[in-house]
Amino acid sequence: MKKDVVKLQKLWKNKYSKPIRHRISRLMYGRKFNAREIGGYLSPGEGAMLYVWASKLPRNSTIVEIGTLYGLSTCYLTAGAQKSDSKVYAIDPFASNLERQIKESDEEQNPYINRKQSKQEVKRTLRKRGLTSFELIKGFSLDVARNGWQRPIDFIFIDGNHQQVQEDYESWRQFLSNGSRVAFHDSNPSFKIKEVSDFVKSIVEKEKIAYLEQVASITSFVLRK
Ligand SMILES: C[S@@+](CC[C@H](N)C(=O)[O-])C[C@H]1O[C@@H](n2cnc3c(N)ncnc32)[C@H](O)[C@@H]1O
Repeated sequence: MKKDVVKLQKLWKNKYSKPIRHRISRLMYGRKFNAREIGGYLSPGEGAMLYVWASKLPRNSTIVEIGTLYGLSTCYLTAGAQKSDSKVYAIDPFASNLERQIKESDEEQNPYINRKQSKQEVKRTLRKRGLTSFELIKGFSLDVARNGWQRPIDFIFIDGNHQQVQEDYESWRQFLSNGSRVAFHDSNPSFKIKEVSDFVKSIVEKEKIAYLEQVASITSFVLRK
């Protein structure tokens, strides 16, 4: 078995064993944004690492987020992006096209489908917190990838439709290159979203990667040659 897969299985087995670096980041940045106030699904440790990864990118990097909901993860990514002079493109249908959202969404997403916010509301959430280095894109991830996206991507955070995780990765893969960071939410098997954990395992098996790490439900790595 490839050594990265062995490492992944080890990481996934013990989701509470956190490297000291993650613990310190969680203490320093994990409460930067108030999850209760904003809403959404992100633990303080996950938010902290999104912030750290975004802040450590080379200058002028491009970050793509699939699945914004109320903007909690977007706040962490954008705050980090502002440290590295980078920009976040956050994709979500927001409160539009609800019929298609219901038709395409997986079970877990149905509870909030009727409480979705408009793009304007989410934009206000970020602006109110002093965040400017972002663009919200109203749409479905696969449509955006296939209809005119051209920018190379330095960091992609995938947290959209779990059933579509493979299509999401495959259609955005062409914009990633050596050195790009990838992070999948809800990928640790203890979060019981089999489509995501199975797919992430297959990617770790197939791709050449480095810096494999896990924080709560997020699995992340950097692509290498
Ligand atoms: C789990 S939530 C994201 C949570 C968010 N990242 C946070 O920090 O709270 C998933 C979001 O992805 C959206 N979504 C579902 N399918 C999508 C697609 N194909 N493209 C973009 N967003 C999608 C859902 O409507 C929902 O807003």
